[in-house]
Amino acid sequence: MSSIARTSIRTQQFTESVIREMTRVARATGAVNLSQGLPDFSAPEAVKEAAVRAIREDYNQYAITWGTPNLRNAISGHYKRWYEMDVDPEKNIVVCCGATECMIATLMAICNPGDEVIIFEPFYENYGPDSWLSGATPHIVTLAPSPTASGGVTWAFDPDELRKAFNPKTKAIIVNTPHNPTGHVFTQAEMSLIAELCVHHNVLAVTDEIYEFIIYDNRQHIPIATLPGMADRTITISGLSKTFSVTGWRLGYCVAPPDITNAIRKVHDFLTVGAPHPLQEAGAAALNMGRDYFAGLRSEYDHKRLFLLDVLKRAGFAPTDPEGAYYIMADFSALRRTPNEDDVTFGMRLIKEVGVATVPGSSFFWDRSRGSNFVRFAYCKRDETLQAAAEKLLKGKG
Ligand SMILES: Cc1ncc(COP(=O)(O)O)c(C=O)c1O
Repeated sequence: MSSIARTSIRTQQFTESVIREMTRVARATGAVNLSQGLPDFSAPEAVKEAAVRAIREDYNQYAITWGTPNLRNAISGHYKRWYEMDVDPEKNIVVCCGATECMIATLMAICNPGDEVIIFEPFYENYGPDSWLSGATPHIVTLAPSPTASGGVTWAFDPDELRKAFNPKTKAIIVNTPHNPTGHVFTQAEMSLIAELCVHHNVLAVTDEIYEFIIYDNRQHIPIATLPGMADRTITISGLSKTFSVTGWRLGYCVAPPDITNAIRKVHDFLTVGAPHPLQEAGAAALNMGRDYFAGLRSEYDHKRLFLLDVLKRAGFAPTDPEGAYYIMADFSALRRTPNEDDVTFGMRLIKEVGVATVPGSSFFWDRSRGSNFVRFAYCKRDETLQAAAEKLLKGKG
């Protein structure tokens, strides 16, 4: 037998997703699943109808690889309407299979071996593997719980740590706002510093704005591409999964300068050829929905956020109040059974003894010990699901 490993070195650099593992255990034990970020409620009726219609009208073959004209026109109109961005459907857009494919196709399109990509930690777990698969090395900058002027807590970075992270090898910085898992919405000052550093060091910004419409307390989402000097050095990534509760449709899009758009289109063509054609037609209808829809989504999630925050506080957690997205990072230190109980042990105990599934905080950290006091709750769930979780979490608390 040859001793040559049958799997590539690149796949040995990361492990399987912990989030999907928690979902599997939750299913097996019948726990209320607040782990993975997928809604358990229906997608909007009008969006579903548009998909059914598109299938009936026979949009059933390969579409233009970088996106159907209808969807690219809708994306262009959408960016103009919401952010005053000028996006040419012919030159600036690539439609992919979810923001997930957008991110890896982008990194493969811009990175060379030896490049560094700055990633804020904690992070959405795909960014590390995406960087490695594209030949680049992640360079971590820490977000830590920090006091706000109004007496709350937010997850912020140290500006000096960020300044030091930029070096001659830096190719790009990934900016995910609203942020998963912390719920942080990057402030104007934070974004301006990131933009200034990108311009100064000739670095690209790759954004993940998948939660752009789930944002609270009158905050505004600011695409970094709209900041001075950034339009020509930003790849803006978003998609339909979260805004329209269709995570299974796999529709995302990149908005980028023409040269980078062309490079992403090439990678995308050979990775997946294209996103599902009939769903792209329905995606155009979704993006063209009126402002009422987006306002309704925001207020629905705001209500769920406030409900779960209150439950978690009463149950003995120290949760961070999210500014956007639909997750709560909660410090469980006060609930430890033993002084050394870590997040994975606590998370498993919560599934098996209480009947509620979360994601252990360490899965979002490079240095896993930094996440060992936290679990992440997802509240993109029906009110009945959140109520069932509340009953379990508050059992015996009076
Ligand atoms: C920050 C972030 N980006 C991207 C995704 C995945 O997006 P998509 O379904 O469009 O691939 C998720 C899903 O949880 C996410 O949290």
